[in-house]
Parts: sequence; structure tokens; C-alpha cells
Amino acid sequence: MKSKRSFWKELPSPFWSLAPMEDVTDTVFRQIVISCGRPHVLFTEFTSVEGLDSEGKEKVSYRLKYETNEHPIVAQIWGTTPEAHFKAASLIRELGFDGVDINMGCPVKKIVKQGACSALIENHELAREIVVATKEGAKNLPVSVKTRIGFKRRVTKEWAGFLLSLGLDALTIHGRIAAEMSKTPANWEEIGKVVRLRNQMGVDTPIVGNGDVMNLLQAQELVDKYRVDGIMFGRAIFKNPWLFNSAVNIADIGVSTKLDLLRRHALMFEETWGCLKNFDLMKKFFKVYVSDFAGSSDLRNTLMNCKNSNEVISVIDLYINR
Ligand SMILES: Cc1cc2nc3c(=O)[nH]c(=O)nc-3n(C[C@H](O)[C@H](O)[C@H](O)COP(=O)(O)O)c2cc1C
Repeated sequence: MKSKRSFWKELPSPFWSLAPMEDVTDTVFRQIVISCGRPHVLFTEFTSVEGLDSEGKEKVSYRLKYETNEHPIVAQIWGTTPEAHFKAASLIRELGFDGVDINMGCPVKKIVKQGACSALIENHELAREIVVATKEGAKNLPVSVKTRIGFKRRVTKEWAGFLLSLGLDALTIHGRIAAEMSKTPANWEEIGKVVRLRNQMGVDTPIVGNGDVMNLLQAQELVDKYRVDGIMFGRAIFKNPWLFNSAVNIADIGVSTKLDLLRRHALMFEETWGCLKNFDLMKKFFKVYVSDFAGSSDLRNTLMNCKNSNEVISVIDLYINR
């Protein structure tokens, strides 16, 4: 077996990652983000291991599509059966990913009802079995976990201490409990506690902080204060696709540049996904490119009626040549 060579150990200090976000961070949007300014680590959307192990696996396997310029890219998985985690991790290794991340943080009701994701915070035994099975399947690939600081109540030290005892290659902490969804501010003091605990335990798992980070300046301040090894950015990318490019100030980006990016995104979305994804999913991106300029709200309303990329391009051209 090849010896384990974790890309996590080769990242700059600090490093920035783009959060896994369902129906957002697919390979198409990741290409758009890379073209604006690349993060150090990318993640796929979360992918059900039981789905991957079923007859209808093509209904979920498209989530694992990526391009070679996305390395290092980590496939995120979720589920409840250790055996399916083993199989998924083996597949992910064969597909050439750089790592496997287990989702132990998603708070969505229909998912936690199955005992998956953030529900695992209250089920250490199953969480352990899942990590062990994933590591077995991943072999020389690094295995990480993304989680929260509690399920119904805060259990930061107990939970993070447990996870850190499992020998993970990285641990991303979203500073909220599951019951808070994303409604209250992220608690960075708790994230700082995880870093101190890691140091006390004498393990070398990189800790990635996540929650409400809007730009690189704020990220560096949080790194300096809480000593995390990296920061994961989620929703900030909706406000600024150039987020990871320290040379660009979003205020200096002109309307035509933003609309060019939308045009590219819509075309790539259709080319890549064809009928696999409904074009309506593209609509959640309109605000990324069409905001903060005169007439942006009217333009967005018009775009909302578009059914394909040709229509999006026609609306943009009409706006540019008005
Ligand atoms: C639309 C959306 C989809 C998400 N999907 C996932 C997912 O697939 N896996 C995951 O671990 N977290 C997911 N999250 C949570 C984010 O990765 C991140 O933890 C959360 O948004 C907090 O970070 P932020 O404040 O920087 O946005 C999702 C969040 C959003 C807004």
C-alpha cells in the first residue's frame, strides 16, 4: 500500500477553503471561483454514501464530478452505514480525489431524522465506526470531518476531543450547534477552545474554523486570535466570487465583468449538466453577479424568467446594449 501523504500537511499557513454547499459548489461554480481567485482547498457538495451504493447511483454520483485544475479537491460524504462509507471512500480514492470528508454537521431535519450528519454528535459509537470504515476504504487518502459544536446543546470539548482521538487528517469546526442552523452568530471562542484542546492532546490534526467569515482580512484576524490552521468560507462567496483574490477589491469590479462571469457560468452550467440539473438551480446565482449596481434589481427580475442560457445571454446583451 502506498504510504499516506496528506495534502493537508502541505498547505500554506494559514490556508483558505471553499465550503461544501449543496447545489452551489458543484464543479461548474468551482471553475468560476477558480477563475476569479483560487482557494487552497475545494470540497464537493455532500454526497450520500447509501445513494452511491444503490441502483440509482447516477442520481448522486454527478456530485463527484471535478476537473483536474481543482486539486486539491476533497469529496464530502454523508450517511449512516459504515459499510457504505467504506465503499464510497474506495470509490473516491479510485476517482483521484485528494481526500474524503465526512459530514457530521448538516442540521437539516430529514437528514438528522435518519441519524446522519449532525445527529452523529450524539452517537459517538456510530461516528467512530463511520470514521474507521471510511479510513479503511480511503487507504492512503486523508480523512477529515466537518462538524458543529453540538447537536441540541453545546458539547464542544467532549465532541471535539472524541473526534481528535480518532486520528483525523483535518477537522473543520462550524461554530454553531445544529439547533441554531445558521441563525445565530458563529461562536469563535468555542472554535478557539478546540485549537487549545488539540494542542493539549498533542495531536497534529489541522483545525479549520468556519462560520460568518466574509473576507480575507477578517480571516487573518481570526487566525491571529484563535490560532486555527485554516478558515473555511461559505456564504461569503455569494457576495464576492473574487473572495480568494487578495489583489481584487469587489468594489472595483465593473458591471460588464460581473455580467460576463454570469454569461460564462450559465453556459457552462448547461454544457456540463444538460438535463441532469434543472436550469432553475442557476437562478440562485443571479444575485452573485447582478447586485449592487444601478438597475440590478430590475435586471435580476427579468433574468428570473429565463429558462436556459440562451435566454440569459439575450437578456444580458439587451441590458449591455440598451
Ligand atoms: C446553500 C448551502 C448548502 C450547504 N451545503 C452543505 C454541504 O453540502 N455540506 C456541508 O458540510 N455544509 C453545507 N453547508 C454549510 C456550509 O458549508 C457552512 O458550514 C455554513 O454555511 C457556515 O459557513 P458560512 O457562515 O461561511 O456560510 C451549506 C450551506 C449553505 C448556505
